Amino acid sequence: MSTSPSLTTTQESKEDADYNKLCEDHNHLIETIPKRNGWKEQHLYNYNGFWLNPHIIKNNLVVHTYFKSQSTDIFLASFMKSGTTWLKALMFSTLNRHLYSFSDHFLLHHGPHSTFPLLDFETHPITDFTQLPAPRLFATHFPRTLLPPLITSCKIVYLCREPKDVLISKWHFMCKLRPKDMPPLSLEEAFELFCAGISDYGPFWEHVLSYWRASLENPEKILFLKYEEVKKQPEVVVRKLAAFMGKPFTAEEVEKGVVEKIVELCSFGNLSNLEVNKNGVEKFGKVAAELGVDNRQFFRKGETGDWKIYLSEEMSQRIDGITHDKLKDSGLIIDPWY
Ligand code: A3P
Repeated sequence: MSTSPSLTTTQESKEDADYNKLCEDHNHLIETIPKRNGWKEQHLYNYNGFWLNPHIIKNNLVVHTYFKSQSTDIFLASFMKSGTTWLKALMFSTLNRHLYSFSDHFLLHHGPHSTFPLLDFETHPITDFTQLPAPRLFATHFPRTLLPPLITSCKIVYLCREPKDVLISKWHFMCKLRPKDMPPLSLEEAFELFCAGISDYGPFWEHVLSYWRASLENPEKILFLKYEEVKKQPEVVVRKLAAFMGKPFTAEEVEKGVVEKIVELCSFGNLSNLEVNKNGVEKFGKVAAELGVDNRQFFRKGETGDWKIYLSEEMSQRIDGITHDKLKDSGLIIDPWY
């Protein structure tokens, strides 16, 4: 039976009214919550304990209101610049290994961010994801406390990285995206802001802890990974990912070297040298909030310990001290990974 036109119109106007209300709430919120200097926009706003730009706060409201998760969905959650690009490639190629040959793989022609959507850039009207086959993959940088409750019961892979490396990676990335009409962001300013927790999706430590604590309570639902462990033992991590996503490697696949092939396909050396990642542009979101970022910005050095070139002894000790204080009773160890 088809829906009558009047019913459709009523439904549409209800949706419009809901969305208008969301925008009003958002405007009111932005006027009332604390703001501080942003890294690539004028201000970041403290929304429920985390520093976000106004677009992302609005998108968070949109996701809460319109995104319908399915129990089989799998999320990749990470703090920005923790290696999301790499994990996206690894998760996508592991889960979909039956769909592509390694000689003509999707990832040879598309940037890793094209593999599955970043929920944070979903605006109204939200994309229809219902046609995607299960399990659907989504990425997010939202801390766990800002996710809609239904998502928190889905499987989540969380990727964490050493904070000094995150700071340096983020500073480089944000300097590239920062509009030319803003004064340059010095490393000293970025450092002070980072230490105070003020950077997109920060504070870093609270972000990591939001997933770490949940992973202790529910290890079957949250796979907590560290960038440094992926660097050290990528094959072990790929096997973990496959099992976690419900698609463990068969003995035959292992015998044929499928794990090693995935690792090689997604390696920094391979991906960063592909034409699509040297000269392609990644589009995030759609319509007004669409953001285009050159793929090459997601591939800088891909190393651990690059902070040593940039941070003084005093700066590194200050971040280590914060990390120690914030994590001390959590059981999470970040420092001696390499
Ligand atoms: P650096 O700036 O330290 O080089 P994100 O994907 O979350 O934005 O993180 C980007 C960081 O991951 C960058 O770190 C980038 O170089 C690194 N990276 C991207 N692809 C990688 C890969 N295949 N292997 C290792 N590191 C990778």
